[in-house]
Amino acid sequence: MSKKIGSPMYTLAEGRPIHDPSTSVIIQSSRSQRGGGLALLEDTQLIETLAHFPRERIPERVVHAKAAGAWGEFEVTHDITDFCSADLFSQVGKKTKVLARISTVAGEKGSSDTVRDIRGWALKFFTDEGNYDIVGNDLPVFFIRDPIKFPSLNRSHKRHPQTNVPNATMFWDFHNNNQEGIHCLMHLFGSRGIPASLRNINAYGVHTFKYGKPEEGTFKYVKIHFKPDDGINWLSTEDAARLAGQEPDYHVKDLFNAIERGDYPKWTLYLQVMDPKEAETYRWNIFDATQIWPHRDYPLVPVGKLTLNKNPENYFADVEQAAFSPSTMVPGIAPSADVMLQARMFSYPDAARYRVGPNYQQLPCNRAKYVYSPYQRDGAGTINGNYGGDPNYVRFSVRKISKGPIDVAHDEWVGRVSDYAADVVEDDFEQARMLWKIFLDEGEDTNFIKNVTGHLKGATPEVQKQTIQYFSKVDEEIGRHMEKELEILPYEGGAEHIKATQSAEGQK
Ligand code: HEM
Repeated sequence: MSKKIGSPMYTLAEGRPIHDPSTSVIIQSSRSQRGGGLALLEDTQLIETLAHFPRERIPERVVHAKAAGAWGEFEVTHDITDFCSADLFSQVGKKTKVLARISTVAGEKGSSDTVRDIRGWALKFFTDEGNYDIVGNDLPVFFIRDPIKFPSLNRSHKRHPQTNVPNATMFWDFHNNNQEGIHCLMHLFGSRGIPASLRNINAYGVHTFKYGKPEEGTFKYVKIHFKPDDGINWLSTEDAARLAGQEPDYHVKDLFNAIERGDYPKWTLYLQVMDPKEAETYRWNIFDATQIWPHRDYPLVPVGKLTLNKNPENYFADVEQAAFSPSTMVPGIAPSADVMLQARMFSYPDAARYRVGPNYQQLPCNRAKYVYSPYQRDGAGTINGNYGGDPNYVRFSVRKISKGPIDVAHDEWVGRVSDYAADVVEDDFEQARMLWKIFLDEGEDTNFIKNVTGHLKGATPEVQKQTIQYFSKVDEEIGRHMEKELEILPYEGGAEHIKATQSAEGQK
């Protein structure tokens, strides 16, 4: 049967050509003149149509569900081969295809874009030596440094289990009692907490990573920064609130339309680079995701240019099914001893197996350039040919498999159980204090106080008091301003307070 170009013939998913995809087969009673009838089990088209529809959804990401996505390119502009042998950085001018997904964190897949929230930044570099994912955020630090707190942190930012609406008491109660997050909170409630556009935000790897030359047994610690060529820009709280109602997809549309009209957003990749010897005595713990390395200590070293230049052909296929993970690394790049990073390396592939399926790596949006992984076989959705008759067990003696390069080595471990992640000490407030001084210098202080109190007014008076005490540890002036501001704001707490009592189920 010939197919006309531009008007493909409709078929069932099994390929059977179909006369009309828009009608069901119906048995009508000879007595009925009014259009009633009976549907038939033999109407395969109707059954397939109805059966597939409720299966269209895959679970949305438990966090970072709402996002824009785009394809792009990374080009090396500066040579870093003196300390890193990763193939993607091997030559100035080398270009690598990239998939980007930029998200909010707390809201669901249909939530508004212009909210005060962290923006997630997931990048997949399709390098000649496998995929390399950078799964970062638009703020340089994170709220916690112990991974066990991650689900609690996110639940406190999401919906109350009884009222099903976000709840300021939960939000602030979590932070009042997990005070290592002060530096991140200060950033979030600064102006950058609501970007004007996804094209005007930074991206940070947040954790410390190791970039090295495994063949020489050397490495450096690095922090990853992307800075937009068009600079940072943000929305006022008032404009953001208006847009959240009028244009809930404001950021997604903005990125799509910019790429569509050829106005490709660009970012420069910089690294901060530290010798491992220096890390031992550095003022800050480099494995603590709540802390930065000040630029005056470790200046930004330019590496390359990221350009987003192609919209997805299909959002679900290219972006929703994409699976990013901090564990997706290439030779020459390795994790550091940041426990958050270590835990994340488990969590993302685990989430992808649940969300997309056990063979998510085989889908076009996730598939690496060259893969030979014959010991990972079968399973739902196998689409890679399943390695034919190749050996499915290791150390097959008939045909040898060549070995890949060695990894960047880990340090030696002392095997001591430590609870450094749990304790909050006075030093945890020092970088927040440095940021407050910047706010004061830049005249951002009043805005910051208004942003915090505008949210905090929804919490119970006790939680408000604790939050004031918490911020006073950064600077007593902040506490005093917050107190004054809250006096004139109407109290918005109410029915959604956290209940102190256990549910009947919990008491059993
Ligand atoms: C998404 C876990 C901390 C950035 C996710 C997802 C999980 C997760 C389960 C959903 C993944 C999916 O369904 O595909 C965790 C855990 C953390 C943690 C357990 C701490 C222990 C962080 C940090 C950052 C970050 C510190 C930034 C530096 C992101 C981003 C996404 C994401 C950007 C969206 C990825 C995408 O676009 O598919 N996280 N996360 N997360 N997380 Fe985290």
